[in-house]
Amino acid sequence: SRFFRNIKWLFGLTIGVGVGFCAYRIQQHRFPAAQEPVPEGKKRLLVLGSGWGSVSVLKNVDSREYDITVVSPRNYFLFTPLLPSCTTGCIEHRSIMEPIRSIIRGKKAEAKFVEAEVTKIDPYNRTVTVSHRAMHDNVKSEQIPDLVEEMPYDYLVIGVGSEVSTYGIPGVQEYGCYLKEIEHAQQIRKRIMDCFEAASFPGVDPETRKRLLTTVVVGGGPTGVEFAGELHDFYVEDLKALEPNLRDQVTLTLIEALPNVLPSFSKHLCDYAEKTLLDEKINVLTKTAVKKVTSDTIYAEKTLPDGRKEEVVIPYGLFVWAGGNSARPIIKDLFSVIPEQATARRGLLVDEYLQVLGTDGVWAIGDCTSSHYAPTAQVAAQQGSYVGRLLNQIAERDDTLDKVTVLKKQLDDGLTDKKVAANELRHWERRLEKASKLKQFQYSHQGSLAYVGSEKAVADLSFWGNAFASGGTWTFMFWRSAYLSMCFSIRNRLLVMLDWTKVRLFGRDVSRE
Ligand code: FAD
Ligand code: NAI
Repeated sequence: SRFFRNIKWLFGLTIGVGVGFCAYRIQQHRFPAAQEPVPEGKKRLLVLGSGWGSVSVLKNVDSREYDITVVSPRNYFLFTPLLPSCTTGCIEHRSIMEPIRSIIRGKKAEAKFVEAEVTKIDPYNRTVTVSHRAMHDNVKSEQIPDLVEEMPYDYLVIGVGSEVSTYGIPGVQEYGCYLKEIEHAQQIRKRIMDCFEAASFPGVDPETRKRLLTTVVVGGGPTGVEFAGELHDFYVEDLKALEPNLRDQVTLTLIEALPNVLPSFSKHLCDYAEKTLLDEKINVLTKTAVKKVTSDTIYAEKTLPDGRKEEVVIPYGLFVWAGGNSARPIIKDLFSVIPEQATARRGLLVDEYLQVLGTDGVWAIGDCTSSHYAPTAQVAAQQGSYVGRLLNQIAERDDTLDKVTVLKKQLDDGLTDKKVAANELRHWERRLEKASKLKQFQYSHQGSLAYVGSEKAVADLSFWGNAFASGGTWTFMFWRSAYLSMCFSIRNRLLVMLDWTKVRLFGRDVSRE
């Protein structure tokens, strides 16, 4: 009928436009247009970090208005929401990495990247000290020397994120695997295989085998829960087929100090997540705080309903610490250097414009700040976009101010026609007034999502100000499509889709790298 013919036509048109758009973006990425040089005399903008916050600044700031340099020890952006999937090989790590140089190359005017760690920020002399060390163990240091440099700036954006916090618990740093960076996910993937290969060794005694097949995840926040879910899927979908004898011997324990897992989600989603984890035969120990870890055993303390404490002892093969984050040393240094930051703990204190309190021309975004927002990618990305746009406005303000100053001088010196100059001056003063009105940062919460294993996810969403909570398989489909659409580039999206298809068809790759 005509209706179906129209639908088919519309469908074909949508696909055609979609494919055309993708082809155009790929072509743009592969053969980018020549970049303009940065005009002389532009202010030096230093952006520290290559994570969610800093990359959002880069995307939004007009590179023709600043002499931009990005400094980070990591020469790529990492899409952290899919990092737990890399621990079991459900997603290959390169699929969620995007080279920072290709992001910078996409800008209209040239920007620079320096692969280095910032070791000192001097907000009073407007300099940062950066240090580049040979990043590859197999490269001799004589060939690639350690380089240290002091870099001056006019404006500085700090987006260095946070580091894993161990709260000084003995043994966590020595024996725990973290899950924050790509190398952590690779380490866990290798460690999982180490444990299985050792447990399959002929003649290994049953007690050692049991220990090797025990994984303990500490921290029932989103990182711990998502990792537990991914590991469970690996056991059920792949290990069962590859090593049926070991499948029934694996145990997975999730330890959380608070009464619930996923405490930042709404109560019924916490309960749903906990029930799903229990259905997956994961031992969930809530109200249990880890106190000490040795090379093969975890010692924790469980608070019983009557308030008494009970010791919990778990021998382990793999121990993953997902106990939360704290400020990096470079940020803690600023707490002591800037008097206005003396009371800061979790991160830098910022005002409504995200400017670091006690500084001039320094902004901080994302996990390295302390605010009433949760330390999430969503917050960091919105803060980064805001600072990018704010810097554009500041550039316009500074340019307009220069123009007004020149015009005023010309008028005072009587160099131009008074009437014409006065009119022009009024026009530029109005523009200056507009450009000087800076908007405060406003966060718009889009919701939270977390994967809990068995193709189920939980979502606390917010639509037009209305809260909406859901959990289950449909939410999992939503979780996948949401994260796919949020991937940094078409290349990332394509690679992630291929990884999911590959795992569905052939299972996870258990060979060592
Ligand atoms: P980061 O993204 O951590 O970036 C910090 C950057 O600074 C890095 O490039 C780093 O190399 C660089 N850097 C570090 N030290 C220095 C130095 N001394 N000098 C210069 N540069 C430095 N949030 C969500 O909203 N949704 C999710 O689903 C989600 N999933 C997550 C899953 C996992 C496993 C993890 C670990 C986190 C997840 N998060 C999620 C949280 C989110 O990743 C962080 O909140 C976000 O990365 C913070 O962004 P950022 O830019 O502040 O820091
Ligand atoms: P977290 O701080 O959210 O959770 C850590 C958990 O470890 C806490 O619940 C804490 O009670 C527990 N813990 C700490 N010490 C302990 C001990 N000694 N014994 C037992 N339990 C202990 O940290 P997480 O999960 O790494 O998340 C960090 C940030 O990243 C959060 O803001 C989170 O929202 C965000 N994130 C978001 C995700 C998502 O939205 N899907 C996924 C991963 C992280």
